[in-house]
Amino acid sequence: MDLKTFEIACWAVLTEAAADPQAGFRYLTLATVDAAQRPQARTVVLRECHDVRRTLTFYTDVRSPKWQEMAANPQVTVLGYCHQRRLQLRLAGRVACYAAGSDVARAAWRALPQHTRQTYIAGPPGEALAPAHETPVATAAETGESRFGVMIVQVNMLDAYQLQRNENPRALFHYPAHGERQESGWINP
Ligand SMILES: Cc1cc2nc3c(=O)[nH]c(=O)nc-3n(C[C@H](O)[C@H](O)[C@H](O)COP(=O)(O)O)c2cc1C
Repeated sequence: MDLKTFEIACWAVLTEAAADPQAGFRYLTLATVDAAQRPQARTVVLRECHDVRRTLTFYTDVRSPKWQEMAANPQVTVLGYCHQRRLQLRLAGRVACYAAGSDVARAAWRALPQHTRQTYIAGPPGEALAPAHETPVATAAETGESRFGVMIVQVNMLDAYQLQRNENPRALFHYPAHGERQESGWINP
C-alpha cells in the first residue's frame, strides 16, 4: 500500500460513515479542553465529511458544556476505531461553531428528521433531570432550533493506524492552514 492510497482510503471511510448509521466511524469521540485545562471527551455522530476540504461536521445542543469549551479553545481532537477494518483514525484540528441564526445551522436544521429535532426540546444537557410534572411542555414556537448548533472541524492532522497481522502501518498526514509545509509520511506504530 502506498501513502496516498492509504490517505484516500481513510477519508473515504469517514465520508461513507457520514451517510451510514451502521458504519464503524459513524460514532466518533470528540475531545476538547475545558476552562480548567482538563481533557473532556464524548461520543458524537459524524454528520458530514468533506474529503477535499478536510472537514468533519457534528451537531450539538448549544447548552451543552462542550459548546463553551470550544468557544474558549477551538483546538479539538476526534478519535475513532473501526473494529471491522481494524483501523484507528485520530484527527486534530480547529473547530468552527455555528449557532442558531447562522446560515449553516439553519440549513442543517431544515434537513434534520423530526425524531432528531426532538432531542433539542428537552432540558439542558448535563443538568439534573426535572420531575416529569415540572418538565415544560414544548410549545409550537419552541421547536428546539434555538438550541441547535453545528460544529465543523477543519482537520490539520490525521494519524492513521492500521492493525495488521505482521505489521501495523501507521502514517501522519498534515493539512497546514496557510501553506506552511509539513511532510506527511509513515511513522513507527
Ligand atoms: C451513541 C451516542 C451518540 C451521541 N451523539 C451525539 C451528538 O451527535 N452530538 C452531541 O452533542 N452529543 C451526542 N451524544 C451525547 C454526548 O456523548 C454527550 O453525552 C453530550 O453531548 C454532553 O456532552 P458534554 O457534556 O461534553 O457537552 C451522543 C451519545 C451517544 C451515546
